[in-house]
Amino acid sequence: SDNKVYRASTTAPVNIAVVKYWGKRDPKLNLPTNSSLSVTLSQSDLRTLTTASCSAAFPSSEGDSLVINGEPSDVSGARTQACFRALRSRRAALEAADPNLPKLSQLSLRLVSENNFPTAAGLASSAAGFAALVRAVADLYGLPDEPRELSRIARQGSGSACRSLFGGYVAWRAGSAADGSDSLAEQVAPAAHWPEMRALVLVVSAARKGVSSSSGMQQTVGTSGLFAERVAAVVPRHMDAMEAAIRDRDFAAFAEVTMRDSNSFHATCADTYPPIFYMNDVSRAAIRAVEAINANAGRTVAAYTFDAGPNAVVYYLEQDTEAVIGTFYHVLGDMDGWKAPVIQGLKPSMTLD
Ligand code: PMV
Repeated sequence: SDNKVYRASTTAPVNIAVVKYWGKRDPKLNLPTNSSLSVTLSQSDLRTLTTASCSAAFPSSEGDSLVINGEPSDVSGARTQACFRALRSRRAALEAADPNLPKLSQLSLRLVSENNFPTAAGLASSAAGFAALVRAVADLYGLPDEPRELSRIARQGSGSACRSLFGGYVAWRAGSAADGSDSLAEQVAPAAHWPEMRALVLVVSAARKGVSSSSGMQQTVGTSGLFAERVAAVVPRHMDAMEAAIRDRDFAAFAEVTMRDSNSFHATCADTYPPIFYMNDVSRAAIRAVEAINANAGRTVAAYTFDAGPNAVVYYLEQDTEAVIGTFYHVLGDMDGWKAPVIQGLKPSMTLD
């Protein structure tokens, strides 16, 4: 065999859900209790760049490795292993069909990842991270798979990662198959369908979240009474209303569903026993600020949403930049609790692809 170094690089963007994924029906396969929908942010603002390489010249004893922002990262976790296994078996199938292909599936993988956003932004990077990892290895292996196929693999790394394989407005269909074959992401609309959409990231805390999304989901599914109602009635209604709002470019409807769904998700967290609180007083101040912005404007111009942590993401339209950004400066500018990166987040540069 040759000593050539095979290499592929790719980037994947961050996505922020407007109808949240929260709850696993199968924790091993990362199958969700409900469908979800997100907006993919611009790669020029927030993205992971990953290079995958392999070579017969790399010592076989070194095993698979992953370096994130210069720090070695553990690849022995079940989620990462599931992605590697799925990608290798697809490559092995190509090699079996064509004996002339180098046997890359048998070599150790070296992965090197960089985020272009500061770790201090406190954003969950697992979505962009696993999406980039899966696509980099798929490119290295020359896999012919479409993004929807890759989303099925990325989903096993981190549920939300399946949505980062597409730009624009993306739905993750929960599916019903026990093996997860129909649990994948698809684009609802390209970013160009609604190019005025903007997202503002308000950083309250750069600290790692207290309760990981996996254990928070487990606790919610297991102990919240409200959660069954969310899955059975609230999310299906929100998915339908959100898809219609996007189709019609109806910002007021988009905003109401976004805010209601964030509230619903955090209510199920508060309904667990013991309760989980991801938002804090500063997060709640951001909610009040958005309400004040909308009241001042006399119409809905801004929508907040919170993931499993205290940082706010605020969606708004380009033409309302002044009303939204100006008021945030005014209301939050001299308030305690906002970290320096909030000022960065306040530049209206968080455009979408
Ligand atoms: O992809 P995970 O397992 O980190 O879960 C993400 C969960 C939320 O960010 C809270 C919601 C979502 O849909 O992204």
